[in-house]
Amino acid sequence: MLAIIGGSGLTHLANLTVSQRLAVRTPYGEPSGPLTIGAVAGREIVFLARHGYGHTIPPHQVNYRANIWALHAQGVTDIVSIASVGGIRADLLPGVIAVPDQIIDYTHGRASTFFTLEDRGVQHVDFTWPYSGGLRERCLRAARRAGVPVIDGGVYAATQGPRLETAAEINRLERDGAAMVGMTGMPEAILAREIGVNYAAVSLVANHAAGRGGSAASISMLDVAAILDGGMGKVRMIIEQMAGSDGD
Ligand code: HPA
Repeated sequence: MLAIIGGSGLTHLANLTVSQRLAVRTPYGEPSGPLTIGAVAGREIVFLARHGYGHTIPPHQVNYRANIWALHAQGVTDIVSIASVGGIRADLLPGVIAVPDQIIDYTHGRASTFFTLEDRGVQHVDFTWPYSGGLRERCLRAARRAGVPVIDGGVYAATQGPRLETAAEINRLERDGAAMVGMTGMPEAILAREIGVNYAAVSLVANHAAGRGGSAASISMLDVAAILDGGMGKVRMIIEQMAGSDGD
C-alpha cells in the first residue's frame, strides 16, 4: 500500500476520500498525528501530515521513527515524501518539482535509527542509493501521465532547521554538490530503508535558496506560501496518477 507523507503546504489531500483516521501507538512514541486512510482514484492510500495536521511540529521535533513505524505497521510498502525545498541549482527555480536521487545529511541530534533497542543489535545498512529506484520511476511516470514537468534527480541536502540557511551555507552546500535544500529528508529516508519500506521524494521548490535569485537579500515567507499554494495542485495531480497506477 502507498503512503504519502505531506510536508509544508500539504497538510491534507483534497482528492482523498477519507474512510478512517487511525491513532497508532508505537514503541517510539506518538506519530505526528493519526494516519488518514482513504482512497485516491479508487485505490486505498494512507496519508500523514509530517508537521501535524495543524502544522505545529518543527522539522527537528518530528518523531520520524514513530511516523515510519506506524506506516509500516499498517501495511505500507511504499512511502512518497512530499516536501518543499529551497532551490540551489540554477534550474531549480521556485515552482519547479524534482525527484531527487541522492542525499547529504547535515542534520544532528535526531533519533535516526531503529537499531537501538537491545534486541535489534548494531546493524550497518546499505544506503548508497538512498531512494528506492523503482518508486522514483513510478513518481516520474505518474508525473508524465499527469502532464506535470519534473526534474529527474539531484542531490537533496537535509539541514537541521528550523531556521533557514545563511548565504554562505548555501554556497557550501553547492560546493558539496547539493541541488536543493530541505529540513525533513533525513532521517526519514534511512528509517524507511531500515524497516524495509520503499521511499522516494517529490520536492517542490518553494524559493530560491538563501542568497540566490529572488532570495539574494532575504527569503520572503509570503512568496513561499504563494508558490506552495500553486505548486501543491501539481503535486496532487502526480499523487492521483500514482495511486491509480498500482506500481506500473
Ligand atoms: N531551506 C531549507 N528548507 C526549505 C527551504 C530552504 O530554503 N525552502 C523550503 N524548505
